[in-house]
Amino acid sequence: MTRPAMPAVRPSDPRFSSGPCAKRPGWSPEILQDAVLGRSHRASPGKDRLKQAIDESHALLGLPGDYRLAIMPASDTGAFEAALWSLLGARGVDVLAWESFGHGWAGDISNELKLDDVRVLEAEYGALADLAAVDFSRDVVFTWNGTTSGVRVPDGRWIADDRDGLTLCDATSAAFAQRIDWPKIDVATFSWQKVLGGEAQHGMLVLSPRAVARLESYRPPWPMPKIFRLTKSGRLSEAIFTGATINTPSMLALEDYLDTLAWARSIGGLDRLIARADANAATLAKWVDATDWVEFLAGDPATRSNTSVCLRIVDPRVTALAGDGRAAFAKGLAGRLASEGVAFDIGSYRDAPPGLRIWTGATVERANVEALTNWLDWAFACEFLEQFGPV
Ligand SMILES: Cc1ncc(COP(=O)(O)O)c(C=O)c1O
Repeated sequence: MTRPAMPAVRPSDPRFSSGPCAKRPGWSPEILQDAVLGRSHRASPGKDRLKQAIDESHALLGLPGDYRLAIMPASDTGAFEAALWSLLGARGVDVLAWESFGHGWAGDISNELKLDDVRVLEAEYGALADLAAVDFSRDVVFTWNGTTSGVRVPDGRWIADDRDGLTLCDATSAAFAQRIDWPKIDVATFSWQKVLGGEAQHGMLVLSPRAVARLESYRPPWPMPKIFRLTKSGRLSEAIFTGATINTPSMLALEDYLDTLAWARSIGGLDRLIARADANAATLAKWVDATDWVEFLAGDPATRSNTSVCLRIVDPRVTALAGDGRAAFAKGLAGRLASEGVAFDIGSYRDAPPGLRIWTGATVERANVEALTNWLDWAFACEFLEQFGPV
């Protein structure tokens, strides 16, 4: 192997991070100039904008008319923890965990809420937990798209229509890029920072009528922090679902989110967002198929993410290295592309097997993914020569 020439074309945007994700094409700070700053978020200009974000998200996602949507504090984590703390404990829980975030939810349910009837259905990085083993007479907690392994559920067909338990879904890296089967979902959460390239800070909480019924009929035995509180005197706090947030939101982040929602509408809505992510992921897949040093971490093509694409290096001389050496090789490759200004933040997640993770969500341009593939080959060749010398 000889050191190749640098590819001629650079991605025009090197941001391939899996969160916060690339801003939409054409974004500039100018879009923030009409933000409602220095005013109470409870006065009508602010409150109207918050409600607009809820209504537009509801429409863009195609949520059923009787599903509610709220803006919550503390990004996706805040929204999902509020759901776990408010709803769980009424019956046994099945938690699906096949990468870092699923394991995190499982840990919180067992160790913080200390529920005793918990089954954790686990799988190694790259695989999906056994969906056929899920018991829908229990509550079911899962992540639609495992951002740290690039493994997603292929659809919602495995979820029982006539379930007794609730389904609670962390959909943060799936919402707006993957088709979520809403009638199968009782609770879903996502943040603004992922597929639409918004800012972190606020989480969105989707509730089905069955989830609302649980909230109004069940009171958990533990104390409820104010920022998780979804009911008042045993009834749903309806105001939260029309823009009266629990505490003060960032109106700057909100303005940015409204801008990205308008962009999403202008390009054709949900179908187009999904198509963009699919095309980006397909561009990467075509290169993976033609490249012998790299493979998907996700074993089954039906479970491969179209947003957080996770790759492992399979060249035999690299796989023969000890664990630390393999990790250093992947880190070196990612670091080389970052210092060239070609791709930022594409090393695998800290808990995941060493490799690469490339965000291909809707705000990423396909031409940039295409350009990146040549640079990945270049960086691999450079790293390989440095490690093993000329072959
Ligand atoms: C699947 C999943 N869940 C939860 C989170 C946490 O999101 P946030 O930092 O927006 O709370 C992330 C972030 O990457 C994620 O990928």
